[in-house]
Amino acid sequence: MEWSARDRAAKVGRDGRGGFGEGTGGMKHVRFGRGRFLVFEGVEGAGKSTQLPLVERRLGDAGVRTLTTREPGGTPLGESLRAVLLDPRFTGMSPTAELLVMFAARAEHLAKVIEPALAAGTWVLCDRFTDATFAYQGGGRGVDAARIAALEETVQGRVRPDLVLVLDVPVEVGLARAGRRRQMPMDLPDAPTWTGSAPDAADRFEREDVDFFRRVREVYLERARARPERYAIIDASADEETTAERVLTTISERLPYRRHSTRQSYEAGI
Ligand SMILES: Nc1ncnc2c1ncn2[C@@H]1O[C@H](COP(=O)(O)OP(=O)(O)OP(=O)(O)O)[C@@H](O)[C@H]1O
Ligand SMILES: [Mg+2]
Repeated sequence: MEWSARDRAAKVGRDGRGGFGEGTGGMKHVRFGRGRFLVFEGVEGAGKSTQLPLVERRLGDAGVRTLTTREPGGTPLGESLRAVLLDPRFTGMSPTAELLVMFAARAEHLAKVIEPALAAGTWVLCDRFTDATFAYQGGGRGVDAARIAALEETVQGRVRPDLVLVLDVPVEVGLARAGRRRQMPMDLPDAPTWTGSAPDAADRFEREDVDFFRRVREVYLERARARPERYAIIDASADEETTAERVLTTISERLPYRRHSTRQSYEAGI
């Protein structure tokens, strides 16, 4: 089904801007919308993986078809590369190697999952994307942002998120949450679907010091402030329910999904 939707999308054409394109052909007159690309960012323990399923459910209730995925990962190759990137045995990996592996996983993810879904009108909800590369490999490891931007251009072309939600918490709060999560592996919200991670041990990034994460947080905030039309900074230091309200309100204000109802986008057989 996914593939027939994709084929149809290819016939209708991609407008690449998220607006509605129109098919031709009398009775059929299919109105086709490219899906929206929504990314969740923030330091460890900010609540990305907690909030994401709530958004997925809310959008689903509104008739929006969604696909939830994550980076690094989201494909078999990407998940294997994720395991390498998080593996503490590779502590000290060269920042350039780390950067390239991140983008290798991203290239596969875009080609196999993200682009086909967006083209078929599905909203993609992604747990981390390229802002994380600017934040971790740029801010954290000190890789020049211009080198990251060059890879972004090469790997993504014009694909950028429609909205990046930066879940913002003080680094100490996020790390404390992540530490508690490690002590309760059954509490991992994403445990049933994702594989390849070790919930009870700190991964290669979680082992970094507080200053590393302070730099990461600062880059997220700087990038969000520089492009307010694409980013929303959400105070994620409150409890899960309060944060969820903030997240859901922001999404409905910034990407008014009710207009893209089942009737317009999907009832036409897409
Ligand atoms: N608002 C909140 N208040 C208190 N605890 C929270 C809140 N949101 C999430 N948590 C808990 O904090 C832990 C980390 O949350 P979560 O896994 O969603 O963070 P994350 O941003 O996905 O982190 P990571 O980058 O490490 O994947 C989980 O145990 C989760 O249940
Ligand atoms: Mg997570």
